[in-house]
Amino acid sequence: MRRPFLVANWKMQKGRAAALAFARAFLPRLADDLETEVAIAPPFVALDALGRALAGSPVALAAQNVHPESQGAFTGEIAPAMLVEAGCSYAIVGHSERRVLFGEQSAFVADKVAALLAHDIAPIVCVGESLEAREAGRSFEVIGAQLEESLATLPPARAAVLVMAYEPRWAIGTGRTATPGQAQEVHAMIRARLVERFGAAGDAIRIQYGGSVKPDNVAALLAEPDIDGALVGGASLEPESFAALLQQSGGPR
Ligand code: PGA
Repeated sequence: MRRPFLVANWKMQKGRAAALAFARAFLPRLADDLETEVAIAPPFVALDALGRALAGSPVALAAQNVHPESQGAFTGEIAPAMLVEAGCSYAIVGHSERRVLFGEQSAFVADKVAALLAHDIAPIVCVGESLEAREAGRSFEVIGAQLEESLATLPPARAAVLVMAYEPRWAIGTGRTATPGQAQEVHAMIRARLVERFGAAGDAIRIQYGGSVKPDNVAALLAEPDIDGALVGGASLEPESFAALLQQSGGPR
């Protein structure tokens, strides 16, 4: 059984004050018996304050990125132990904006996965193809390679903590969501690769979909057998819409 998991990815939006205002408006909207797991990934500078505001609530704290080294001359970077100190349980790695805008390669993502595991932070590993790759019929090839290389450091014994996110680049922030069928087709491929690699543990790994997820399309996406949650950008920025998403996301599967 895979518990649905929604993650708010705020990207470079909401500093400390806005993050706290969100928590004040959002937490009272949560049901006591939340069936869906939920986490918020604010910008680094808001992690500490938001972590304190979320303490005692069912909402977990996530980072949007991490550097694999434990310390040193890496100007502008954040080490895994710093995320532990801020209270993070999860960290997003390999987001397409990191891959495309900052040139991050899958081998670097794999180093991040290893560093996170060493600090007991669960990695949320993103994969996804460009529109060109999809139109050329190369989606599986591109995603398969990202998956193999990004998970190269993950030992089967630790596979259970992994969360995957399929985010077609053409659907991120564009309002153009993959249809549930299109997403399921890729999720099934990812599932097959995970099972091939990790055996039964691969079947328990949650695979989120990301790319223009909204309160009015989340239920149809999550109704697909291999879509176990969502990584949400735009629709997670307002407490009302993120709460509505949660409400639409259903219970254990
Ligand atoms: P979006 O972003 O929901 O705004 O499309 C999703 C993501 O990039 O994680």
